[in-house]
Amino acid sequence: MGRPRHGGNRAWGAAIAGCSPEEILDFSASLNPLGPPASVLQALAQALSAAEPVVISRYPDPDYRDLRICLANHWAVEPEWIFVGNGAAELLTWAARDAQGREVWLPQPAFGEYARALAAAGVTVKPLPFFPAQGSPDFGLLQEPLPAAGKSSRVLWLNNPHNPTGRLLLQQEILPLLPQFERVVVDEAFMDFLPGDAPQELPPLDAGSELGELPRSQTLIPHLAAHPNTIVIRSLTKFFTLPGLRIGFAVGHPDHWRRWRQWRDPWSVNGLAAVAVAAALADENFRRRTLAWLPTAREHLLSGLQALPGWDPWPGQANFVLVRCPGSATQIQEKLLRQHRILVRDCLSFPELGERYLRIGLRTLPEQEQLLSACREILENS
Ligand SMILES: Cc1ncc(COP(=O)(O)O)c(C=O)c1O
Repeated sequence: MGRPRHGGNRAWGAAIAGCSPEEILDFSASLNPLGPPASVLQALAQALSAAEPVVISRYPDPDYRDLRICLANHWAVEPEWIFVGNGAAELLTWAARDAQGREVWLPQPAFGEYARALAAAGVTVKPLPFFPAQGSPDFGLLQEPLPAAGKSSRVLWLNNPHNPTGRLLLQQEILPLLPQFERVVVDEAFMDFLPGDAPQELPPLDAGSELGELPRSQTLIPHLAAHPNTIVIRSLTKFFTLPGLRIGFAVGHPDHWRRWRQWRDPWSVNGLAAVAVAAALADENFRRRTLAWLPTAREHLLSGLQALPGWDPWPGQANFVLVRCPGSATQIQEKLLRQHRILVRDCLSFPELGERYLRIGLRTLPEQEQLLSACREILENS
């Protein structure tokens, strides 16, 4: 079995650890450990136990009207501005096709599916270095304005918060860039982990807590009407722990979707995924619990990793932590698997990072404690 390009490949980890995939403690996929929400499981069970389970016995509505209305209501846009997809991954494929004949400016390191989608569409990439010098806490993009000439051939792809660094670009950093490109695609697959992501989102349970101080969502969704050249891609995979259902959506001016509809399969989102979205978005309790867990889990993991001699974690804003190890990260990954059945993500699929980095998804505090003590044990015995 080849080394995986993505996190979450338990079968690969289990083959090295010599155990079953279920026995692996997975820190590699950056999924919410509190999910999937019980409300989603109930809604799915109910839909499947109906006398006629129409979610699977009928074709989905190819227009996905109800699903689009549900997503549109949550993010306060018109349903015509929503385009649903079989995970964000499918939407990246159409975004790449949409860039044909132009050059895509892409901050690097970058999520591996961008290269796949762009290469499949025959689109040239212009890499933008997006990684700080060691020890520098901040890093930015395109400090100088670009010449107006050439705009029609330029497309910008951003990922916010950025995988794998967790760096959150602020709206004020992104908005001036938008008019400088013919089109802009912003992948916000991890944005729902930040408070204030949707307009009707309730305040945190304890409004006086440190949660109030945390950076808030920097989603561009409310700015799309003013920037019809820009598309936001979102996923329900990470926040709601639904990678197997495959559900994502894009928000943007309906003109984009007139083009994209000609390319895609008419039923790319299955009926069960549509049921899950309605239940997931209605589950305010799950959202609150997740937003309360996340900052504590991040602080816990960051301080635990910082305490390991020579380990240098980046303080990102997503539900994962990128950490530079003093030696080979792949050796540590292998020891964690063989000795502790713990799977963390190496960063070999991000060539700019080399082999010193691990990306570790946040989990519950006891699970993180298990990981940290496994790391300490490995370091003591090496
Ligand atoms: C930045 C980013 N975008 C998109 C995706 C894909 O999400 P989905 O499961 O919705 O296809 C991932 C998955 O790892 C990701 O890291």
